[in-house]
Amino acid sequence: MKIGKEVIPRTAISTSDESSITVRGADLCSGLIGRISFTDYFHLLVTGRAASPAVTAILDATLVAIAEHGLVPSVQASRMTLAAAPDAFQGAVAAGILGCGSVILGASEDAGRLFVEIDARATDGDIDAAALAVVRSHREARRPIPGYGHPLHKARDPRVDALFAVARDQAINLRFVDIAEAVERVIPDVVGKDLKLNVSAAIPALLLGVGFPLEALRGVPILARTAGLIAHLTEELQRSIGFALSYQATRDAVFDGSPAPDPAAGSGR
Ligand code: COA
Repeated sequence: MKIGKEVIPRTAISTSDESSITVRGADLCSGLIGRISFTDYFHLLVTGRAASPAVTAILDATLVAIAEHGLVPSVQASRMTLAAAPDAFQGAVAAGILGCGSVILGASEDAGRLFVEIDARATDGDIDAAALAVVRSHREARRPIPGYGHPLHKARDPRVDALFAVARDQAINLRFVDIAEAVERVIPDVVGKDLKLNVSAAIPALLLGVGFPLEALRGVPILARTAGLIAHLTEELQRSIGFALSYQATRDAVFDGSPAPDPAAGSGR
């Protein structure tokens, strides 16, 4: 056994025997089913802690915010997959989730890491100076600033203020909301463009304020968008648009590669 240090696999999440299932220290059947909401259960599964009412409100709000945004690429990929393979519902969900990365849908984790870096750097309390330094180093490395800019919402993404209002209502720690707004303030000077906060920055700004783990941040858009995809795939089975999406995608496409040789021209030998 050379890879890793553990020889005996251990997990603290769950175990089961013939008559019971234990999850995070509770009996699933007598202590959780019918007694806990799915949002609270997600929090318990990920953190091992029961969610307070404020944490439930925050996590719920972030999940609702990112679950659905129309016929975006994740939905199109998913619906086209189901149109082509109507028996592969699970494959179609997976196709939609595969693109949950740093460009769209999945930037929450990257934005969270940016905020944690700024938080660690702002030991003197000056978050604007720390934000400026960290955003500059991102820019020098030619990396986009995660959580800022949006192809549609050029002013602040409307979901941002809705989420920040929940944070204020629930009186959570607003440190990461302040950091997110500091980044927005310094971006024009560093990037030369007035890029506004989008939902993928608001999500970590709230969740880091309630102690949600950085490592699990990408799971929030993945979990939420899975619900949206299931809705789209149900509609796809009832009223298919998957091939219409494919047709529209190629309708104006231009082939600018090399033409095949004209067989009428012969080989020239
Ligand atoms: N960091 C640095 N530059 C950015 C930027 C960012 N976060 N967002 C946009 N820009 C730049 C673009 O590269 C473009 O530059 P150019 O004019 O020199 O080509 C310009 O600003 C205008 O971009 P725009 O057309 O408004 O947006 P887009 O459609 O090109 O990009 C995103 C949209 C989402 C891909 C882009 O904003 C981005 O990469 N954001 C970071 C990732 C993110 O937060 N994703 C979650 C979105 S919900």
